[in-house]
Amino acid sequence: METLLQVDQILTVFRTEAGEVTSVDQVSFDLYKGETVALVGESGSGKSVTALSILGLLGKNGRVKQGTISLEGRQLLEATPEEMRQIRGNEISIIFQEPMTSLNPVFSIGSQLTEGIRIHKKWGKKQAREYAVGLLKKVGISRAEAIMKEYPHALSGGMRQRVMIAMALACQPRLVIADEPTTALDVTIQAQILNVLKAARQEYGLSMLLITHDLGVVAEMADRVLVMYAGQVVEEADVITLFAAPKHPYTQGLMGSIPRLDAPPGERLPAIPGTVPSLTRMPEGCRFHNRCPYAADRCRAEQPPLLPAGENHSARCWFANDLAAANRPGEQEAGYGQVR
Ligand SMILES: Nc1ncnc2c1ncn2[C@@H]1O[C@H](COP(=O)(O)OP(=O)(O)OP(=O)(O)O)[C@@H](O)[C@H]1O
Ligand SMILES: [Mg+2]
Repeated sequence: METLLQVDQILTVFRTEAGEVTSVDQVSFDLYKGETVALVGESGSGKSVTALSILGLLGKNGRVKQGTISLEGRQLLEATPEEMRQIRGNEISIIFQEPMTSLNPVFSIGSQLTEGIRIHKKWGKKQAREYAVGLLKKVGISRAEAIMKEYPHALSGGMRQRVMIAMALACQPRLVIADEPTTALDVTIQAQILNVLKAARQEYGLSMLLITHDLGVVAEMADRVLVMYAGQVVEEADVITLFAAPKHPYTQGLMGSIPRLDAPPGERLPAIPGTVPSLTRMPEGCRFHNRCPYAADRCRAEQPPLLPAGENHSARCWFANDLAAANRPGEQEAGYGQVR
């Protein structure tokens, strides 16, 4: 498989009043052409900051301090702001959770969509409009001509998200980064939006980096999964393997004790006792040790690297391979499934 995006050992920091904080630490992954990789993890684990690092949208107080990000061999961290704007307009598109923040309330859908297309394709107004209407139909908007005249506030959440997807596809990007694209929508609409994304992925051969809290969405959409915890990747595997045999205690906790591929869309990650450590007070050793039912002395003292845990599978846990066997449903002793 050909690699589209290569993220290598990035470290992303923000300047804050409390000093410099590290939000993303030693994150590495490859994204192949046509592949969908999901980033999952609790709130604050660094999913969005990973995406913003790739997009060059960290804002004034943030920067990628170490590591490299390359898109088909192009070093994104060395690109100028203008070059990054070009890349965001042509090669990478973004879909956010709340389309109202990306849609301009004072312009009609048609003018926003057409404007982007005209700039990108250097087309005249008429041609751009026709293309825009076609895109809206592609994302399942049957009344496309009427919707072109509407303003964002007049549309339902699901409709706005379809428009966002149409905008994201307008430049025929190679990579779409979708940050919680269906989180704000109700369950039936979510399923429709996922289908639109799937169809687009198929038609355009897109690669996708999909950020979500929702394991149902992961099962539905992803080829491969990266589980993040406290700024780091703690487990990486293909989707089938991850659901069938999660090796990191954190992932096991996220999945409940029973791995399932049939979680309905909209089902949230179950709560794990305890809270994510603060960025300014990371624990020594494994960052998960204070919430881990299996933590041993070594876990409190030494931070584990991502260790091989099977074919194309790795986990940041000293005991990943020992726990896997002990953790099958029904054989649990100290796992999260236990009644306390
Ligand atoms: N501009 C910023 N300045 C300072 N800290 C930031 C900034 N943006 C993010 N952070 C911190 O970086 C950490 C990771 O944030 P991030 O937004 O990536 O989390 P997330 O995994 O996307 O969470 P969620 O699921 O809630 O969206 C958090 O602790 C957050 O407070
Ligand atoms: Mg986020």
